[in-house]
Amino acid sequence: MVSKFAALAVAMLIASPALAQAGDAAKGKAVFARCMACHSVDPGANRLGPSLAGVMGRTSGTMAGFAYSPAMKNAKIRWDAKTLDAFLAKPTAKVPGSKMIFAGLPNPADRANLIAYLASATKK
Ligand code: HEC
Repeated sequence: MVSKFAALAVAMLIASPALAQAGDAAKGKAVFARCMACHSVDPGANRLGPSLAGVMGRTSGTMAGFAYSPAMKNAKIRWDAKTLDAFLAKPTAKVPGSKMIFAGLPNPADRANLIAYLASATKK
């Protein structure tokens, strides 16, 4: 138990500068369970939705090999913490006509944690 806490404390010390504003990646992984029916973070692993590997910095609708809606292609959003936050709050408001059928994450903390998880898990 003690060593588990020590390891956690070390992990938090290492992670905290990068995650200070971005949320808690470990909690975000649990939030990502809501996306996993349609998304993977493994490169090339498209499901109903595109793989989110490398999504940070990618322009919306541009990953080769996935049939995006015209709405997502035309949106030309550069995905970063800010644009993902807006999109995930209410996908149909940010990208009207998108074929991502997901109501959104109304809780800002859920979004911040999820984005921290995506930033760490999708660097591929
Ligand atoms: C019911 C299936 C489904 C769920 C659940 C879902 N998505 Fe999606 N997602 C899609 C589809 C389909 C697209 C492609 C949309 C389009 O082309 O209009 C997409 C697109 C995206 C994109 C744009 C990717 C790109 O390459 O431009 C992001 C980012 C994204 N989803 C994140 C998420 C996150 C994070 C969650 C969980 C909170 C989530 N999605 C939940 C189906 C889903």
